[in-house]
Amino acid sequence: MSDLIEGYLGKTVERKKSRMPAKLDYIQSATGLILGLFMWGHMLLVSSILVSKDFMYSVTKFLEASFIIEGGSPLLVSIAALVIFIIFITHAAMGMRKLPGNFKQYQVMKAHANNMGHEDTKLWFTQAFTGFAMFFLGSVHLYIIMTHSDAIGPYASSDRVWSEWMWPLYILLLLAVEFHGTIGLYRLCVKWGWFDGNDPKASRAKLKTVKKILTVFFLVLGFATLAAYMKIGMENAKAGTVGQKYVPTAQVIEYKTTGRIA
Ligand code: HEM
Repeated sequence: MSDLIEGYLGKTVERKKSRMPAKLDYIQSATGLILGLFMWGHMLLVSSILVSKDFMYSVTKFLEASFIIEGGSPLLVSIAALVIFIIFITHAAMGMRKLPGNFKQYQVMKAHANNMGHEDTKLWFTQAFTGFAMFFLGSVHLYIIMTHSDAIGPYASSDRVWSEWMWPLYILLLLAVEFHGTIGLYRLCVKWGWFDGNDPKASRAKLKTVKKILTVFFLVLGFATLAAYMKIGMENAKAGTVGQKYVPTAQVIEYKTTGRIA
C-alpha cells in the first residue's frame, strides 16, 4: 500500500522521499570505480605484447593460474569476464537513468550546459555519448572474450584483431573507454570529495591536469598496443599461418635440444 501511495504522490505515508535515488547513485559510483580501475589494469596487461610475445604469453598463462593448475585454465578468464560483464551491465543500467528521455529534455540540458559555460557540465555530454557507444562495443568484446577465453595469446589475439576484423571495433572502443573512464574517475573524485584537501578549487584544477595526462597516456599506450596486435595479425595472414598456436621460445629451445615439447 505504501508503495502505491509513494508511486502516485512521490512521498511515503510518513511524507518522506525515497532514498532509492541516492542508493542507485552509490551503486553507479561503486561499479564505475571498479570498472575504471579494472581498465587501467586491463590496459597494462594487454600492452604486455609491446614487451615481447613471450611476455604476453606468460601474462596470459599467469592469469589462467598456471602456477596452481597445470597448463592454466581459460575457464578462470571466462568467469572473470562474466563478473566484469555483470558489473558493466549494472553500471550501464544505473547510467541510463541520467540520459534525457526525449528531445525536449535533451534541448533543456544542452541549453543549460551552454548557458552555464561550465566545463564539467559539458563533460556530461561526453560521458553520455561514450557510455551509449560502449553499450554495444563493450558488450561485443566481453561476450567474445567470455566465450573464447582459450583463444587469448600473442597469436590468437592478433588473429582476432586482424583476421577476424576486431580492429575497427577496438579503435572505437578504445577511444570511448579511455575518455569515459578517466572523466568518470575524475567526476567520482569531485563528487565524493576524495582529494579535496584544504582548497577544493585548487585540488580540482590539479585533478583536471591528472585526468588529461592519464587520458593521453592510456590512449598512446592503447593505440601502440593495438598496432602491435595488428602487425602480428597481418604477418600471420601473409604467411598463411592464421590460427597457429603460439609456442614460447623456452619450449622451442627445449624441443630443439630434446626433440619433444615439455
Ligand atoms: C575480464 C574482462 C576482460 C578481458 C579478459 C579482456 C581481454 C582482452 C584481451 C585479451 C584483449 C587483446 C585483444 C584480443 O585478444 O581480442 C583486449 C583488448 C581490448 N579490450 Fe578487453 N578484456 C576485458 C574487458 C574489457 C572491458 C570491460 C573493456 C571496455 C569496455 C575492454 C576494452 C578493450 C579494448 C579497448 C581493447 C583493445 C585494446 C588495445 O588493443 O589497445 N576490455 N581485451
